[in-house]
Amino acid sequence: MSDFRPLIAPSILSADFARLADEVAAVAGADWLHVDVMDGHFVPNLTIGLPVVQAILPVTDIPVDCHLMIEDPDRWAIGYAEAGAYNVTVHVEAARDPVKLAANLRAAGARAGLSIKPGTPLEPHIETLRHYDTLLVMSVEPGFGGQSFIADVLDKVRAARRLVDTGHLRVLVEIDGGINADTIEQAAEAGVDCFVAGSAVYGADEPAHAVEALRELAGTSAHRAG
Ligand code: DX5
Ligand code: ZN
Repeated sequence: MSDFRPLIAPSILSADFARLADEVAAVAGADWLHVDVMDGHFVPNLTIGLPVVQAILPVTDIPVDCHLMIEDPDRWAIGYAEAGAYNVTVHVEAARDPVKLAANLRAAGARAGLSIKPGTPLEPHIETLRHYDTLLVMSVEPGFGGQSFIADVLDKVRAARRLVDTGHLRVLVEIDGGINADTIEQAAEAGVDCFVAGSAVYGADEPAHAVEALRELAGTSAHRAG
């Protein structure tokens, strides 16, 4: 048995926005709270932004994980770090200077995350990832909750896991999209550290129980070197 402890990050995209503080409290045992920021340009959907993140931060002790699906993150991401988000993830497809952006996020006190869409290869971005703390592998096309898991992206997870386990990268590997009781085990086996789950958590009768059940499934199926 390894001492691997999977992180579960409920996505509030599937929560009831009219009762947001209660919905955050409903996942009290979660490791990270995933907040999907969409601008209607980088993705064809519009959600919430900095004012809502600023409202959530004081009402929870859970580290807030902001996933920015926006254009021009070089300009806008820093505000989320300054507000107190624990991890701020930008998309490599949108960032102009991702190395400088990571440095700015870290200087503002946040961890820096880099996300790749399902069709974006990992290989060209490995050097950039040396400047990041988190790699977010999208397992659906970003934009909406409740989509089906794209298992093909697990090859990128395996490649990232190898790079981390051999000491070539020092990122936490996070996956986002279509994670539920049927898909989390294969993601864990491929080497994911942190699992985002929206509809699987907030669609459950007891969101906190869903978090525990997902963590248990991920923990028992992961085989880690060292
Ligand atoms: C999709 C978002 C996800 C979404 C996941 O663009 O980035 O975080 O909330 O939702 P589920 O878990 O329902 O696929
Ligand atoms: Zn997300």
